[in-house]
Amino acid sequence: MKIAVLAGDGIGKEVTAEALKVLQAVVPKTVVLEVSHAPIGGAGVEAAGDPLPAATLELARRSDAILFGAAGEPGDEKLPFDMRPGASLLRLRKALGLFANFRPAFLFPELADASSLKREIVDGLDLMILRELTGDLYFGEPRGVTPEDGERVGINTMRYSESEVRRIGHAAFRAARLRNRKVCSVDKANVLEAMQLWREVMTDVGKEYPDVELTHMFVDAAAMLLMRNPRQFDVIVTGNVFGDILSDAAAMLTGSIGMLPSGSLGSGTLGLYEPVHGTAPDIAGKDIANPLAAILSVEMMMRLSFDLPEAADRIRRAVSSVLAEGYRTADIYQPGTRKVGTREMGEAVLAALR
Ligand code: NAI
Ligand code: MG
Repeated sequence: MKIAVLAGDGIGKEVTAEALKVLQAVVPKTVVLEVSHAPIGGAGVEAAGDPLPAATLELARRSDAILFGAAGEPGDEKLPFDMRPGASLLRLRKALGLFANFRPAFLFPELADASSLKREIVDGLDLMILRELTGDLYFGEPRGVTPEDGERVGINTMRYSESEVRRIGHAAFRAARLRNRKVCSVDKANVLEAMQLWREVMTDVGKEYPDVELTHMFVDAAAMLLMRNPRQFDVIVTGNVFGDILSDAAAMLTGSIGMLPSGSLGSGTLGLYEPVHGTAPDIAGKDIANPLAAILSVEMMMRLSFDLPEAADRIRRAVSSVLAEGYRTADIYQPGTRKVGTREMGEAVLAALR
């Protein structure tokens, strides 16, 4: 098991250190674990004058999975794209062809009161949003701002090819087989031709998975039902733009951004796992960041890249038990619980694993 650890900047370094200890603790003894570290983001600029150094990309390519922390510095969007620490992750995903972004939203019952919705609505919530990452409005041509009839016109193009929809569709149905065998494909086929194609191809792919239930939903209805009755969903598969918005909305159902892991896969076996959050400069270097999103990213890695559901379940149970024991970092703290720092939370998870 070759793992590239790209911890990056800010709290990325702190939370990744804890996640790595968890990784080392759950890998079965029969597996040879090979861990290599490489700089990315601001750390890449310091080490090699490039947020995504060639050696880092090379290491990533040679790995079975990547554990990524976070990259970026406030204000770095003023720099040219290739020199922005915060853009190193986008470059890395693109270079590795990672088109399928898995973002689970599940609620630990201990944290139900941190949700934006009432406990009755979110209790037992466990859904997976699968967002297509490399197509859609964000990449379609033509694009730009051009003069037309004496004023400026802004243009972006929603574009999906059949093969792009097909490959994300397969990823969705395969993910559903590891869960509750339900896929909801979210589109806007009533208005957009690109989404009519999306729906047709999804329906077609679905025929190859007769054991998985496929439904279709328009994105506006999906947004509403995600707030009204989120537990009806298992896997939601959708395009880049709708997925961007729905996954952030779903995140708030579960409480803190410090609890949310993610994983990205391509057509090969290489996977990239990372917390959803960024470098959090406001709390970096203070040992107060929540490491659970990074630790739960290792759980996803065990499940999706290495087919080790037992190791994954052990991590989930360990996190549940430390929450049940009352351990809380500042972002999820409530009176009556026990406030701990990044390292102490990591240690508590390790102790629970043991
Ligand atoms: P952020 O996710 O870093 O922080 C947003 C808020 O959530 C902050 O108040 C922060 O303290 C809090 N927070 C985030 N993670 C936390 C954790 N684990 N525990 C406790 N609190 C946590 O997003 P922001 O502030 O918009 O971006 C900061 C920098 O991170 C920017 O340079 C941005 O470009 C970069 N960024 C990088 C990402 C990545 O590498 N995947 C994703 C998002 C932002
Ligand atoms: Mg977003």
